[in-house]
Amino acid sequence: MIARPPLSRWSYRHVLDLAAFSQEDYATVLELASRFRALPMSGPRRLPALQGRLVTTLFFEPSTRTRSSFELAARRLSADVQSFSPASSALAKGESLLDTARTYVAMGADVLVVRHRCAGVPAELARDLEAAGCRTAVLNAGDGLHSHPSQALLDLFTLARHFNPETPTLEALAGKRIVIVGDVLHSRVARSNLWSLTACGVDVVLCGPASLLPDAFAQFTHAPPPGQAQDLVAQRGSLRIERDLDRALEGADAVMTLRLQQERMKEQLITSLEAYHQRYGLSHRRLERCGKSVPVLHPGPVNRGVELSGELLDDPSRSLVEEQVRNGIPVRMALLYLMAASEPASSAAGLS
Ligand code: NCD
Repeated sequence: MIARPPLSRWSYRHVLDLAAFSQEDYATVLELASRFRALPMSGPRRLPALQGRLVTTLFFEPSTRTRSSFELAARRLSADVQSFSPASSALAKGESLLDTARTYVAMGADVLVVRHRCAGVPAELARDLEAAGCRTAVLNAGDGLHSHPSQALLDLFTLARHFNPETPTLEALAGKRIVIVGDVLHSRVARSNLWSLTACGVDVVLCGPASLLPDAFAQFTHAPPPGQAQDLVAQRGSLRIERDLDRALEGADAVMTLRLQQERMKEQLITSLEAYHQRYGLSHRRLERCGKSVPVLHPGPVNRGVELSGELLDDPSRSLVEEQVRNGIPVRMALLYLMAASEPASSAAGLS
């Protein structure tokens, strides 16, 4: 049993993007994820919170971590879980994505966890389902280059836990300097992290070649989030670009590196993998520039020896990559709990 979290603060039916999240929203997710993470790892690990609920994963793009992490999270909350595979589905017979989704809604899906290679598809689906009178929640598990909310939230939780293991709150993050290096252009993870980190008072330094990090990213969080007249976050952390990795690392508190997403590149955007590693790859030696021992994050999958050296990836005293994977489960439990349990039919059983 864990104490009932403060659901009254949660106002979202769908989680599509983090641009409009307030500091209170981040605090709610971190608090709940901490409680789920603290549950004993042995003995009965299931909470009855989502008993009788159905979580369906609709992944139109490959995934190793995100999909299985969502499915495990749903099972740990006692939800039924159903997963859709495009290759063996009626999509191949020409069924539309909306009709496919409605098929799962007709089977009783309470939450659809959706990944798609095109930006905006989960949001369109949420709109179409609402227009059709369905109460099903849509959770974006990565759409094109746009957004990957659960990944950024698990990154935030991992960083907060690293800085303050006892109390992984927003206060643990404020004023930290975090470097994001690599293929920012093709990264929905980086875009979501820019919203979440700056909202929590982190100063972000972006690093990468101009072909993978256009100058415009320096203004990414300056205008109000899309569709909003005003930013709900009064004072965001700063954001700047530093093209030289050694300079970017000076004084950093953590470094996040991103996969080179060659499958999304329409043309050659780097001269060679060797040259890329030389300039933007992380290694123990390179991290000495930070002036202190700092952790390294990567959303995975990793190109070993490209974004970071194999030795660094395998060094548990520096690499938080496996910790990110572990934290994905309590963070996704938190999201599923908040979404499914805040619906009127909620049976938040087991949380007193
Ligand atoms: C990321 C993604 O799919 O956006 N991976 C993930 O979800 N862990 C990043 C990537 O593919 O490089």
